[in-house]
Amino acid sequence: MEVRLAECAGFCFGVRRAVETVYEQVQTGKTIYTYGPIVHNEEVVRDLEEKGVRVIEGREELLRLAEEAAGRGEETPTVIIRAHGVPKDIYDILDKNNLEYVDATCPFVKKIHRIVERESEKGRHVVIAGDPTHPEVEGIRGWCSGPVSIVETPAEAENLVFSPGETVCVVSQTTFNYNKFQDMVEIFQKKGYNDGVVNTICNATEERQRSAKAIAAEADVMIVIGGRHSSNSRKLYDICSRECANTYFIQTLDDLRLELPKAVRLVGITAGASTPNKLIEEVQNYVRINF
Ligand code: F3S
Repeated sequence: MEVRLAECAGFCFGVRRAVETVYEQVQTGKTIYTYGPIVHNEEVVRDLEEKGVRVIEGREELLRLAEEAAGRGEETPTVIIRAHGVPKDIYDILDKNNLEYVDATCPFVKKIHRIVERESEKGRHVVIAGDPTHPEVEGIRGWCSGPVSIVETPAEAENLVFSPGETVCVVSQTTFNYNKFQDMVEIFQKKGYNDGVVNTICNATEERQRSAKAIAAEADVMIVIGGRHSSNSRKLYDICSRECANTYFIQTLDDLRLELPKAVRLVGITAGASTPNKLIEEVQNYVRINF
């Protein structure tokens, strides 16, 4: 029996890089804070907590930390900025208060910050296609110095009104749905805004889905590892179930109750974006050893 892992499974490049950054910083022996949980995975956050890493929940807490650090004098903590990135004013707070920080913003997100900062300075109205409550979108918004609008649906794009003579720059949240973005772009074009659209959707999600589907199509049994509340993991499960009737959705190895018939030749494994490698390996080894 063969056990095969999807080509793209688990953490994307940006999240892996950010998580590794935190583990590296832990080695320095300093007090480490992350600005928001580094990844939406309870186990990783708990493991880091046990190593002394604390989570700052927002601006207020950061300001409090800055005050405390100033009061303590020499021993300054290190703040790590996660892959989603943060608004410009967070860097200003860090710099003004001489707080040490390590910037683990995903380079693809950083690129969006640079685009909106530049276009905003030129006087363009920035439109972000994305979820207004998502920290990545909040971060992008925080690099705009002029008018900015966030649209989540084509209907919202349709209703958007610009001032006469205004030029527009449209970007997208990195995980935004491609088809929805295309629909919005068409709406802006119909309104006469043909330039200034930059597709900043990251292909990590699509690649993960594509490679899961490819394995599921061949596999006799498919295992999807992911968090209970992770929408991208659920999506992987749906995709795999359509290709393979024996698809299991598990959070940890403990959930795996496999009874494999003898005829099984290929077991496929994939994992959502917030599933750490360690867990993927555990499941992979378990299936290899026990069946
Ligand atoms: Fe991940 Fe960066 Fe893309 S965080 S989803 S690789 S934009």
